[in-house]
Amino acid sequence: MKDKLLCLLRQTDAYQSGELLGRQLGVSRAAVWKLVEQLRQAGYEIAAVSRRGYLLVREADILNQVEAKRVLCASAPGWSLFYETSTDSTNLMAKRAAETCAPHQSVFLAQDQLKGRGRLGRGWLSQPDQSLTFSLLLRPEASPEKIAPVTLFAGLIVVQALEELLADCGAQLAIKWPNDIIAPAAGQKVGGILTETLLEENRISALIIGIGLNLSQSSFPKDLPQATSILAQWSVKLRRLDVLATIMQNLIRHEKTIFTPAAWLPDYRKHCLSLGREVLLHEGQGEAELCQALDVDETGQLLVLDERGRKRAVRAGEVSVRGLNGYI
Ligand code: BTN
Repeated sequence: MKDKLLCLLRQTDAYQSGELLGRQLGVSRAAVWKLVEQLRQAGYEIAAVSRRGYLLVREADILNQVEAKRVLCASAPGWSLFYETSTDSTNLMAKRAAETCAPHQSVFLAQDQLKGRGRLGRGWLSQPDQSLTFSLLLRPEASPEKIAPVTLFAGLIVVQALEELLADCGAQLAIKWPNDIIAPAAGQKVGGILTETLLEENRISALIIGIGLNLSQSSFPKDLPQATSILAQWSVKLRRLDVLATIMQNLIRHEKTIFTPAAWLPDYRKHCLSLGREVLLHEGQGEAELCQALDVDETGQLLVLDERGRKRAVRAGEVSVRGLNGYI
């Protein structure tokens, strides 16, 4: 019954009287008031004004299959949703489904991710309620060599969406090449992206873009000194499904240019704080090499100048980049 009331409240941004709501639900005004209380307990902000009635002021931060489906239908019509309350990794969910049924334009979403995977074989820590973890599956008609820059494109899409959501506080986010999402003032990471591909006879059968964001954590384990959250940096608690919806809308807005880096590289470069900096390149187990990061090219490679004055291009999957005095 409280879901029905929620539907009625969502239908308008005007106050609706308890009597009218009760009539539509077939219950008394007192019963409506009780249902309103239940919705408030669940995190919905509902204003009540005498002689006017009730108004839904703010949605709750709820991430379940029904709500995720509703939000995805509105923000990304035509996309399919695969939802689990708890999973090992949304990228693995996507990979498994890619081998069977999942169509082009699928979203894999979980409330809790127990074995999150990061870049270069690392792990990724998610905390239920405080993180947003999801993966996108595309089945593009593109040759494998066109895929590398997509990981940069994904970073830009996420950063732009977060800036839109945080526009009231004028937040600017940055990207550490290739696609770490950074809070620049703190020099710490609020999110990461892991892009993976499945190949079949040298053509792409699936492109999986896994996105992990730290939204509301107030602290992190000691072994993650580079991690921070949106809440910790900007004192704003973003609702997980608002973030998903805004990223999806931004992705759809720019989807046509995904394999045309010339269209979005200028914006990427503006956000990329690695450029112009001295960076340490870590390649495998070898010693770190001091370089200057010069640019990013249309294949997604970082162009660097090494200590001997040689220009080189490095690939995202092969090196990790660190700042001289820490993470960025
Ligand atoms: C990184 O910065 O190392 C990339 C982290 C990517 C984490 C996300 S969370 C959703 C998706 N599922 C995973 O297992 N990993 C990605």
